[in-house]
Formats: sequence, C-alpha cells, structure tokens
Amino acid sequence: MVEIKAFIFDLDGVLTDTAEYHYQAWQRLADAEGIPFSREENDAMRGLARRDSLNVLLKGREIDEATAQAWMVRKNDYYVALLSKISPDDLLPGVGDFLAAAKADGLKLGVGSASKNARPALEKLNILSLFDAVGDGYSVVHGKPSPDLFVWVAGRLGINPAQGVVFEDAAAGIQAAKRGGFYTVGLGDAVGEGATIRLPNLGGMRPREILARLV
Ligand code: BG6
Ligand code: MG
Repeated sequence: MVEIKAFIFDLDGVLTDTAEYHYQAWQRLADAEGIPFSREENDAMRGLARRDSLNVLLKGREIDEATAQAWMVRKNDYYVALLSKISPDDLLPGVGDFLAAAKADGLKLGVGSASKNARPALEKLNILSLFDAVGDGYSVVHGKPSPDLFVWVAGRLGINPAQGVVFEDAAAGIQAAKRGGFYTVGLGDAVGEGATIRLPNLGGMRPREILARLV
C-alpha cells in the first residue's frame, strides 16, 4: 500500500475565502468595461492563472496587449485592496485545526496556488511558516489544469505524486492534480465531479479520516 507523506493545499477557496475576492475584483473590472459577467461564470475561472482568467472574462472579445496588461493590473489592484484586510480570522472552517493535526501526524505540508499573491496572503493568515514548500503563480510556466505546479511542489517536498493528497476547490485544480498522479479532495460547491473524496469544507475533519477514506 502507498504511504501518504504529504498534503498539498490550494489557497484561494481552500484555506481562506479569497476566491470571493478574486470574483469581486473581476466583477468590478467587468462592470467598468461593460462586459457581462456573473458569479456562475466566475466558477469557470477558479484556479486559473490571471491571464487565463482574463481570457474567460473576455469570452472571445479581442483587446490589444497593452489593454490586456492594463486590465490585469486594475483587477489585481482591486484584489490586493480586498486582500489587505484579511487576518487569521479569515481561515475557512476547520483549516487551523486540520493543518495543526496534519503536522502533528508527521505529514509534510505544501501549498500549490496559481496566485502571485499567495505568499502575502499566507503571511496575513499567519500560516506561512507551517508549510514545507510553497508553489505560487511564479513557480511554473503552465498553470492549472496543467499538473506542473503540484508536481513542482511535490519535488520540493521530496515526495512522489502518488504519496500526496491535493485539496482543491476548483475543477481545473482537481484536473491538474489527477493528471499529476495525486490523490484528490474536492472542497465546496464549485469543484464538480472527479475528486477522490468530496467535502463541503474541512470543518470537523481529521487528517486520519481523510487517509482512511483514500487508501
Ligand atoms: C488562483 C485563483 O488561486 O489564483 C484564481 O483561484 C486567480 O481566481 C489565480 O486568478 C491567480 O491569482 P493572482 O493573484 O496571481 O491574480
Ligand atoms: Mg482555489
């Protein structure tokens, strides 16, 4: 039997509800530019890098490169303003206890986030030091649903993908993890089918229960 050695967490929508702030920032940009956009459409963006998210927002509209860059800067400015207000109180239900229990059980912990704002977010949540490896929007060229980011994190943790469990709230993230050969835990309503285990959130969950259900 394969021994699980590490848990790798997506950040936005898994450890904290910054997925909501990414949505609000894109909505603000879309409203200002007169582009129809909705919360449902935003679910298709979950987990995607900034540029890939913009392409989803544009729905085939063509803009020149300078405009694309300017719009991404504006969206990020809106997002960073929202992010500046988060604190350790903004961890999603059960996350603090779950991370502490996983560490106590001897598991290595990693983050695999598409976001270039992942490190400041982890600092604000006061959990950065818990992680043995952090992969973010600067780590690899091909973002989710490519498996590259999770494989990069696994390498940093010194595990094979088959020894790791990825926790994700996004369909693109589950796809990335499965393509990389990881076990998967899908969290929340937007994650869709495909994860090995699906849970509403980590509230009341113990790492050992996850392991027992996976292997
Ligand atoms: C992911 C989010 O974690 O990071 C996406 O799910 C976001 O919504 C992506 O687009 C990139 O984030 P950033 O902060 O680099 O724009
Ligand atoms: Mg996410």
